[in-house]
Amino acid sequence: MRTLNTLITGAGGGMCRGINRRIAEAGHTVLCVDLDSERAEAAAAAVRGDGGKAFAFAADVTRADDVASLRREVLEQVGPVQAIVNAAGVLDRKMLLDHDAESFATVLGINLVGPFAVIREFAQDMIDANFGRIVNVSSIAGTTGYPYPSYAASKAGLSNLTRSLLMDFWGTGITVNSVCPGVVDTPMVIQEVRDQVPNKVPTGRIVEPEEIGALVAFLLSDDARSINGADLMIDGGATQIFRLFDPQHV
Ligand SMILES: NC(=O)c1ccc[n+]([C@@H]2O[C@H](COP(=O)([O-])OP(=O)(O)OC[C@H]3O[C@@H](n4cnc5c(N)ncnc54)[C@H](O)[C@@H]3O)[C@@H](O)[C@H]2O)c1
Repeated sequence: MRTLNTLITGAGGGMCRGINRRIAEAGHTVLCVDLDSERAEAAAAAVRGDGGKAFAFAADVTRADDVASLRREVLEQVGPVQAIVNAAGVLDRKMLLDHDAESFATVLGINLVGPFAVIREFAQDMIDANFGRIVNVSSIAGTTGYPYPSYAASKAGLSNLTRSLLMDFWGTGITVNSVCPGVVDTPMVIQEVRDQVPNKVPTGRIVEPEEIGALVAFLLSDDARSINGADLMIDGGATQIFRLFDPQHV
């Protein structure tokens, strides 16, 4: 089994608890990146506490200088990155009239430009190695309509960035995919949404961060080498049934 230096952005977040753990269990080295250095440290410590290999790095994915120095630090401390999981993201619960151009652009900056910048920074190392795995954490909100347009637009952009990069990575040994979670048991999800899950999600249950981690770990594996450009829903079937329901349920 190939073990990979796997860079995970937003690694201190709720969903990454499950992603970091599953990646480490698969034998990969987890490079925990977060805007908040304490969160990054805590995430790396949790992986090491479970017997895995992890390093912590503080970086803001919206800052080009941070992303460039992140690559230098990673190369010095660990070596070349072979896999990227872009999980850093924010949900701004503003409808159209509450937004202005600046607040809208902030969400796009973190959720869409950030993943672009990280991929752009590390791409050449993966191309040189003739191998790489990229997983973008998008959302079902990038596929369906959604009440919060900055989030929906950013995730739709991220899913389509994923597909579009197939051209850049043609024949390079690099695969690039998106995972699109539905309602996951993290602090990002408010109680009102949790309460509606049994009636609105065909499986009747909230998705656990570990399930997202298991899917991401599979995408990093050799068995997933032909999965490329996919937008994988992991939502208990919510997207497929969405149109039958009142959109207020999200
Ligand atoms: N929770 C859900 O139900 C759900 C559903 C679908 C998609 N998602 C997506 O999954 C990802 C993780 O979500 P979560 O629930 O763990 O959120 P979270 O808020 O718990 O974690 C996000 C992490 O990203 C970090 N971050 C924010 N801005 C950053 C920046 N500029 N640079 C670096 N790090 C930054 C935060 O410090 C935080 O640790 C997000 O992209 C989110 O949009 C979540």
